[in-house]
Amino acid sequence: MKALIIGGAGFVGGYLAERLKQDGYDVIITKTEKEQVKGFDGKVYNMDLLVPEQIHFVLKNVLPDCIFHLAAQSSVAVSWKQPATTVDINIKGTIHLLDAVRDLKINPRLLLIGSSEEYGLIKKEDLPVKEDNQTSPNNIYAVTKLCQNIIGTIYAQAYKMDILNIRAFNHLGPKQAETFVTADFCRQVAKIENGQQKPVIFVGNLSAKRDFTDVRDVVRAYSLLSKTGKSGETYNVGSGQSISIQEILDQILALTVVPIQVQIDKNKFRPVDMPEIEADIHKLTKTTGWIPQISLKQTIQDTLEYWRRDCRNARQKL
Ligand code: GDD
Repeated sequence: MKALIIGGAGFVGGYLAERLKQDGYDVIITKTEKEQVKGFDGKVYNMDLLVPEQIHFVLKNVLPDCIFHLAAQSSVAVSWKQPATTVDINIKGTIHLLDAVRDLKINPRLLLIGSSEEYGLIKKEDLPVKEDNQTSPNNIYAVTKLCQNIIGTIYAQAYKMDILNIRAFNHLGPKQAETFVTADFCRQVAKIENGQQKPVIFVGNLSAKRDFTDVRDVVRAYSLLSKTGKSGETYNVGSGQSISIQEILDQILALTVVPIQVQIDKNKFRPVDMPEIEADIHKLTKTTGWIPQISLKQTIQDTLEYWRRDCRNARQKL
């Protein structure tokens, strides 16, 4: 069974490639020209989702049994600053991919990775949120991911394509980019410990509550869904428990002996930020048997250790 990961050089891609290999897939990945892949020894293609000819070329050569579409402009914060780019990559790019599959008359299983952000402003009484809940996206990134979901559903129905939509809630772990909250906080703490930043950590909205899952658990869910998920359906992938960003910060600060002052940085606030989001994961668990295995405490420890190593390595290079 051949699995093609679109966007395989990113944070999730690396973990997914490892997982799929363990689960018996022959893994091939695509990346953009400027990205670098570390620690992957399979076939890698350069592919731009905005250039349909490149997608055709890759699909014709690989003839995948399963496609995991991870490639995206994945940051909510960046989507406020680059809305048009976010729309292009996340919507147009997905359509190019689906059309290439149709044009070539191949029928791989497609997992489109969407986001919990698609739900947007959820009523308190609707938490934990189910897949058939109303969606009210309130930022550009969220709109693009909801569009991807709707387009995926339309193509599955209209063209009988084998498409599964995933709604991934926040994930975290070592190697995640520092644009995301836990990586951002851990990196700052590691820099402070290493004398590369004054003992002040800059933070944004600490009252938001999010549902965090370790990336290694997330990719295990993707692999299981690729085998037992039902075509045309949407699945939440999350832990089922929300936690405030304040609690995440407290857990990180509890792991350091260096005294650190917390400073609110208004520039880190978003024009709109969902107060709380929590996944109902019954559908996923019923379909795959999946439950998260790695605790948040463990993930945070691993992430902080990763940034400590990164800071030490950066210092040694000076
Ligand atoms: N990045 C960041 N930095 N976020 C902060 C900070 C900070 O210093 N302080 C507070 N936050 C808050 C944000 O305002 C937001 O409410 C929450 O922490 C999580 O922010 P991010 O880690 O940037 O993630 P996100 O929720 O915007 O998006 C992530 O999760 C989505 C699923 O819910 C991404 O992984 C998306 O790709 C994913 O779809």
